[in-house]
Amino acid sequence: MRFSLSAALAALLFTLAATASATAPPNEDGYDLWLRYRPLDKSAQASVQAQARSIVLPGAATPTTQAALDELQKGLGGLLGRAPAPATRIADGALLLATPARLPELNSNTSPLRAELAALGNEGYLLRQTRVQGHNVTLIAANSDIGLLYGTYAWLRDIGTGAKLEASSAPTLQLRLLNHWDNLNRTVERGYSGQSIWDWWALPDIKDQRYTDYARANASLGINGTVLNNVNSKPEVLTAPFIAKAAAIADVLRPYGIKVYLSARWSTPLELKETSTADPLSPEVQAWWKRKADEIYKTIPDFGGFVVKANSEGQPGPQDYHRTHADGANMLAATLAPHKGIVMWRAFVYAPKGTHIGEDRAKQGFDEFKPLDGQFAPNVLVQVKNGAIDFQPREPFHPLFGALRTPVMMEFQITKEYLGFSTDMAYLGTMFEETLQADTMTAAGGRTVAKTLSGIAGVSNIGTDRNWAGSHFDQANWYAFGRMAWNQQAKAKDVAAEWAALTFGADQRVVAPIVKMMMESRETVVNYMTPLGLHHIMGTGHHHGPAPWVDNLERPDWNPVYYHRAGRDGIGFDRTAKGSNALAQYAPEFARQYSDPKTTPEQFLLWFHHLPWDYKMRSGRTLWAELLAHYDKGLADARSLHDQWVALKPLIDARRYTEEEQRLTRQMANALLWRDACIAYFQSVSGLPLPAGVKAPAHSLEYYKSVTFPYAPGHW
Ligand code: GCU
Repeated sequence: MRFSLSAALAALLFTLAATASATAPPNEDGYDLWLRYRPLDKSAQASVQAQARSIVLPGAATPTTQAALDELQKGLGGLLGRAPAPATRIADGALLLATPARLPELNSNTSPLRAELAALGNEGYLLRQTRVQGHNVTLIAANSDIGLLYGTYAWLRDIGTGAKLEASSAPTLQLRLLNHWDNLNRTVERGYSGQSIWDWWALPDIKDQRYTDYARANASLGINGTVLNNVNSKPEVLTAPFIAKAAAIADVLRPYGIKVYLSARWSTPLELKETSTADPLSPEVQAWWKRKADEIYKTIPDFGGFVVKANSEGQPGPQDYHRTHADGANMLAATLAPHKGIVMWRAFVYAPKGTHIGEDRAKQGFDEFKPLDGQFAPNVLVQVKNGAIDFQPREPFHPLFGALRTPVMMEFQITKEYLGFSTDMAYLGTMFEETLQADTMTAAGGRTVAKTLSGIAGVSNIGTDRNWAGSHFDQANWYAFGRMAWNQQAKAKDVAAEWAALTFGADQRVVAPIVKMMMESRETVVNYMTPLGLHHIMGTGHHHGPAPWVDNLERPDWNPVYYHRAGRDGIGFDRTAKGSNALAQYAPEFARQYSDPKTTPEQFLLWFHHLPWDYKMRSGRTLWAELLAHYDKGLADARSLHDQWVALKPLIDARRYTEEEQRLTRQMANALLWRDACIAYFQSVSGLPLPAGVKAPAHSLEYYKSVTFPYAPGHW
């Protein structure tokens, strides 16, 4: 009897436990991003309560500190169920937000924090459990109100992830920007998450709540600037009605420390018929831009400046008038300098129609900008894409990093133009880290790409989709960009863990497997799309799906065959001295190492070398067999990502689980298509049999060539 009672009890407990663990959390739609503030468990609540019995901000609130107080109300209200009341007097257990201006004793000679604060600059913050005026407090201290806002987000983040309080933090780069490729008609170039969030038609009168939530999300990461419109810009952007609309957005973003910038079309005054030329040396043109800058600053006093895409992909520019990029950039810079504005002049240039034919496209940015080094005005930065071609799943870093004295900005692409849009999972933190930590070898002892930067920009993946980014996991790419823009030394894995805890809850049963998936995901995409240094073999125009066979586009360097150069003799682009010699643009030590296929990292092998199919790889396999193995691994890993997600089903809310499961299912199909189409094509050129164990593609090459993607998004 006794035995059966305890057995029954055990069975009951088991059933209860099973039911409890099988009860998925409530549905979420992703709108709250990483600022979800869902209730903590009781013990965590007690410890947070002890850190914030009251909230004290000495001195008057400003719009920025008000944003911090509002975020604390929202955050603690969610995490604890009830936010503590703001108080005016410092007491035990207070959460104290203070700058030296608000609490002069922070700056006194005896303050133990004085030196530490001084090292934090304008935007840094420190978090500390300490004693102030004889009371035990949790202190968020900074030199400015924006530092307090950043510190507030950091404190809330530490609570959300269950991390110990961060000691102190300050950004290394002052310019941390998003670039929206948003058009005035609300389409988004390379956008896969709905329409543009900027409702230009409704502005300036109607300011969507999303603008404030956008500002909160960006400020929580430390992003402090945003370029509102597409680099392929329109003249109307710089007309009075649109300046007024941009000003309305700037008003919403300002309390959050975010400045507004615009993409300027080079020929704006000419196209608006307000000048007779767009020659940068024409006094008429110079006077127009000066008036325009003055007009903008009258409306947006803290306007950040312009980004310019000139003489690239059909865009107008100073070269149309036989002037240089420096002539163009400096003319604009002169109009912005009195207002402390800057020009971000893009180095993504390759020959306008008909010129440079036969020249390696990877060389053209360097070739145009290196000779101009030293000629740019002090408020010009050259904005350089991470690689020399175009946001591929993997590229070696651009040779301009480390090669210029002119300040250089990094341009990453957060939106996944070449990595499966927002349907395929690819966490880009690993790509950002790989590029930022790459050694340019431009100084003795090494000099990472990160160390060469004066600013950083990310092409936004934000749109009107309820979840902002097109998929839940694409939110992580916005997050990772922001965290790594703040701190280039941040590790992709740590950032993924933070994001996963904030987005799905700090339960290790969820966080650890999600981090594992994220860390595998981008390599998976590289493997099923462009392994071993292959690049630009995607479908024409929309850049989705495989198309390595395309050879009929107007410009040679628009054709995939131009990039992979596969034939009977082998595969790959020879960028050594025997080929295009793009390697000569890198530091000598780098060029030496990468000139020899044996000392080139295999992940970049076919970027720099054209090699025979029977070239022996480090694995002992031939190049042909290795290529096939990578495609197979890509497919297997895409399937594994799906399986890993399915295993998490009991722990994820049904809505987000299902939305991601559907995408991962689609990703498996995309991986299979890539694998099969590329194998079918490369086999047709190599003429080699498939080694034992490699499955033949399901269809003929003709079939893969016939697959089209009508209405693929993001391509306008
Ligand atoms: C890529 C992209 C274009 C974009 C361009 C740029 O080529 O496909 O849509 O305009 O980059 O960065 O300017």
